[in-house]
Amino acid sequence: MTDSQGEVTPLELYEKLNVQGEKVRSLKTAKAEKADIDTAVQLLLKLKTDYKHLTGQDYKAGCPPPENVVNQDNGSATDGIDEEDNVDPWNVSTSNAKGVDYDKLIVRFGSSKIEKELVDRIEKVTGQKPHRFLRRGIFFSHRDMHQVLDAYEKNKSFYLYTGRGPSSEAMHVGHLIPFIFTKWLQDVFDIPLVIQLTDDEKYLWKDLTIEECHRFAVENAKDIIACGFDVNKTFIFSDFDYMGSSPEFYRNVVKIQKHVTYNQVKGIFGFTDSDCIGKISFPAIQAAPSFSNSFPQIFGGRKDVQCLIPCAIDQDPYFRMTRDVAPRIGYPKPALLHSSFFPALQGAQTKMSASDANSSIFLTDTPKQIKNKINKHAFSGGKDTIEEHRKFGGNPDVDVSFMYLTFFLDDDEQLEKIKQDYSSGALLTGELKKILIETLQPMIAQHQERRKQVTEETVKQFMTPRPLNFKL
Ligand code: TYM
Repeated sequence: MTDSQGEVTPLELYEKLNVQGEKVRSLKTAKAEKADIDTAVQLLLKLKTDYKHLTGQDYKAGCPPPENVVNQDNGSATDGIDEEDNVDPWNVSTSNAKGVDYDKLIVRFGSSKIEKELVDRIEKVTGQKPHRFLRRGIFFSHRDMHQVLDAYEKNKSFYLYTGRGPSSEAMHVGHLIPFIFTKWLQDVFDIPLVIQLTDDEKYLWKDLTIEECHRFAVENAKDIIACGFDVNKTFIFSDFDYMGSSPEFYRNVVKIQKHVTYNQVKGIFGFTDSDCIGKISFPAIQAAPSFSNSFPQIFGGRKDVQCLIPCAIDQDPYFRMTRDVAPRIGYPKPALLHSSFFPALQGAQTKMSASDANSSIFLTDTPKQIKNKINKHAFSGGKDTIEEHRKFGGNPDVDVSFMYLTFFLDDDEQLEKIKQDYSSGALLTGELKKILIETLQPMIAQHQERRKQVTEETVKQFMTPRPLNFKL
């Protein structure tokens, strides 16, 4: 415990945390100045750290410290969990310039690391070179992927489920990560895919109308379709449209709602007494597509088809809940593949987020905007002067331009050479940024070109409930 906390008890600190959490939420709801929100979040993180030091436990809203909690040693090393990494569906932040410590997150979330052995196995089963996201550990964690492969090898197939919360018209480059990877999985395993657009979630969480959220869902569907999904194997749906038209989907939602308590969702998601009841029951809606009988038009009422969910790890709380509830309602647990975060331009302390325009490169950006944003905002691991840089070299581990290249430059040898040259000082920051600009500009221009080809008729095709073409 630090001096600044004086004689504070665990319960007092817990209550301070509740108040501070509420303050952060209300600042965000009121769309306060970013600087004010950042200050409040920093204080919240500091209080969480103090709480962990004092009680040896992570702070969870709705779970006050037990009365007999033992005070921990003052500021001593903790149990190895980095309490400064904050990862949930709404916030991602860390104080580490290299980004979130994903190995520690695996321990905290109880998932499994994607080891080389699993990557090799995927290569063997599919007969395809693993995607660069697997080769480079960008998809780094999983749940039950070996089980999915065991079944697949015995000719028992599975389906994919992923999604998007349509909070604005423009998606950013970070949002592409799970979709690019899902498209690769669909191609190499030749399996059906469902994509949930949670327009209801965004209505509940943001200051937007139902009509706006639904419109964003349709606009975002165009960007998703532009990733190249096969219309014969893909069903994209808006919750507002599909929930009302599918009794089977809604029955699963209610089944899940019956088997999860308020206390559980408070513990998992940090909901408080002042959150609207729509938010509290929403996790059941994101869980329902994990069960194949939510889509009778696709799976003909079968409830045993295994689901695999590719997503970034911020979405894992939803699926921890889903996996907990699945056996209790007679369904298989969904398997997961988790990706790390595509960082904000300003550095890997936060993920790229649509709510901060300067932190993001949007799929609608022009070549000039891309160039300016990278040159102006991309955090550099280079040295202050050319002389120093040539002498000591740059640090690719914290350099955002280099990190972006690991996501998008497919050539492993070229990437390794860039890393060596930057580390030795042979390659300057400006030159590295130029390589990134020349990688992203055509990639985004091609995406925009493909999106232009997506007609209203194509969107309608993808979004109509119908049988898909596959063999299970
Ligand atoms: P949303 O719209 O916040 O994000 C859509 C998908 O993009 C991932 N993601 C990122 N990946 C890498 N780097 C980033 N900076 C980054 N930001 C977002 C998210 O993890 C997600 O996979 N509630 C969900 C929508 C949803 C969903 C799902 C997502 C419904 N069902 C099933 C995944 C799987 C949401 O608001 O996602």
